[in-house]
Formats: sequence, C-alpha cells, structure tokens
Amino acid sequence: MIAIGCDHAGIDLKPHVISVLEELGLPYKDFGTFSHESVDYPVYGELAARAVASGECELGIVMCGTGVGIGIAANKVRGVRCVMCSDCYSALMSREHNDANVLAMGARVVGSELAKMIVRTWLTAAFNGERHARRVGQLQTLDGGGTLLP
Ligand code: RB5
Repeated sequence: MIAIGCDHAGIDLKPHVISVLEELGLPYKDFGTFSHESVDYPVYGELAARAVASGECELGIVMCGTGVGIGIAANKVRGVRCVMCSDCYSALMSREHNDANVLAMGARVVGSELAKMIVRTWLTAAFNGERHARRVGQLQTLDGGGTLLP
C-alpha cells in the first residue's frame, strides 16, 4: 500500500502519480487533500508519513508546490526518511543507498512526465543493504534522539 498526500498546490500532480501506481499494479491510500482550496501542507505530510511509520503503508508519496514543505513535514515523523526529488538519479539513489520510504515532489517544479519517471524509478528500485544498512542505522539513531558523536 502506498500512502499519498498533497496540499492544494500539489494536487494537480496527484492523478499523474496515481497513473503510475495503477500501471505498476500498486494499491494506494489517498490521505488528501481533495480540492484546490488552500490547506496547510504539514497536515497532509504528517498524515501520509504516519501511515508509513505505523506500517499501514509500505511507502509514501507527498506533493506540494515545491515538495520542500511537505517533505520537511514528513521527515518530522519518527521512522520516516523522506527524499525531495526533482530528478531520477536522486530518486534511484534514495532507495538504493538511503532506503527512503517517502518521496516528495513539487508540482510547481517538475512536469507531469518527469514526475511519472521519478515515481516509476523510485518505486521499482530496491535498497542495496550492506554498508548502506549501517548508515541507515545511524540515521535511525539520530531519528530516535541519539547521537553518533563520542
Ligand atoms: C503553498 O503555496 C506552498 O507554499 C506549498 O505548497 C509548498 O510549496 C511549501 O513548501
């Protein structure tokens, strides 16, 4: 299950993202927003991120105007590693090296076809593990309020 969240500025990208999920046969849960009426992006970032952190959804995709605000909001939820992507290379690496579990994009930044390529790339990539697992473990230490410093 893929969690979807967006604000009013990200909503026009949502049908394009959903078209990729349908193409890949992946079920999704849409946490809104559902109209162009102005809303606060942190709410929708939190909704989608909590669904991922709780295990209800395996991965999440969030959208706002830039992808920045909703991505920051998602990253405030413990257990979430959200990447803001405007290119396919970062999308691929964020899965292979960082085990990112939420993807953020900006509807005012990427066009619909690039966004679809980013989503396809991100959803079909896999975590490489090995040395990257140690580093993701360090991210989890920071996420839990711990430190990596002596
Ligand atoms: C809304 O105007 C805009 O600020 C929001 O979608 C997002 O880009 C914030 O980071």
